[in-house]
Amino acid sequence: MKKIALMTSGGDSPGMNACVRAIVKSCLADGIVPVGVLDGFQGMIEDRMYEMTYSDVNNIVQMGGTILGTARSKQFLEAPYRKQAIGNLRQMGVEGLIVIGGDGSFTGATVLSEEMDIPVIGIPGTIDNDIYGTDHTIGYDTALNTVVEAVDRIRDTANSHHRIFFVEVMGRHAGFIALNAAVASGAESVLIPEADTDIESLARQIKEQNRGKRSSIVLVAEGDDAGGSLEVIRKVSPYLEGYTIRASVLGHIQRGGRPSAFDRILATRMGCYAVELLEKGKRSLMIGSMGDQLQTIPIADGIKYKSSPLDQDKLNLLKKMLTTN
Ligand code: F6P
Repeated sequence: MKKIALMTSGGDSPGMNACVRAIVKSCLADGIVPVGVLDGFQGMIEDRMYEMTYSDVNNIVQMGGTILGTARSKQFLEAPYRKQAIGNLRQMGVEGLIVIGGDGSFTGATVLSEEMDIPVIGIPGTIDNDIYGTDHTIGYDTALNTVVEAVDRIRDTANSHHRIFFVEVMGRHAGFIALNAAVASGAESVLIPEADTDIESLARQIKEQNRGKRSSIVLVAEGDDAGGSLEVIRKVSPYLEGYTIRASVLGHIQRGGRPSAFDRILATRMGCYAVELLEKGKRSLMIGSMGDQLQTIPIADGIKYKSSPLDQDKLNLLKKMLTTN
């Protein structure tokens, strides 16, 4: 193996740079030329790639975002553009490809690995944690801690003003951030896409939880079936007369920022392992970390099950923490 291309794709996540660094350093140490693809699949189509050196990855392990840039490429969904992208990889002499990204990126990587003979390895990088076959995706731990810190801050002002806050967090299809942030921040309620929301029982629960307290926090995953925080407030307000309610949408604050030590280490391990796998002639695999052990599954399986199953233990834990007497 003489040349390995690497790219970040889909929503960026903290720790992607640590992963890029690990791949580049591993390649160079083994005499392989790493080729950085700019802006994900879009850059591959437009032939925006460059050979990377140690100086490209100097001082990036602590940086959020991705130095390679990323995109959600619509063109890549069309076969002729993919053909062009594959042609560009061949032209460049690429013999292996590493894709760091979430479910959309793995869909692209799966199609690519079916359409070309260049081996592909996927590394899960998304704050959503919604990839099957890994306990953690790169960036999830950092995002979770960012959310918990934000909720702690909101709690201060909510307490001062006797308010109920609906805090909206990311997660279109998955409630990992909302559920675990609720456990870690002592939130009074959580709404996640994996569980149906009943507005009347939510109102009852909020009233019960609020008794004897100065504030309540309801964490709302953006993809909840009842809607985002504003929509939920609109629906629940008629049942909560006399309470002061506010919304806070955390948005892209959750995606940026310095990666946690956990994400940097996970990203570094996965990046080095991806190069090793390509050197051993492996293809069409996704790397996961289960019980702190790196493992592989077919790349198509990472997205086949849409997301990891909902953590019932965490839901039960949260219910216990909500018991008031
Ligand atoms: O896939 C990660 C994610 O952050 C989701 O949680 C969120 O719904 C989405 O990306 C937002 O995407 P964009 O930045 O393209 O609006």
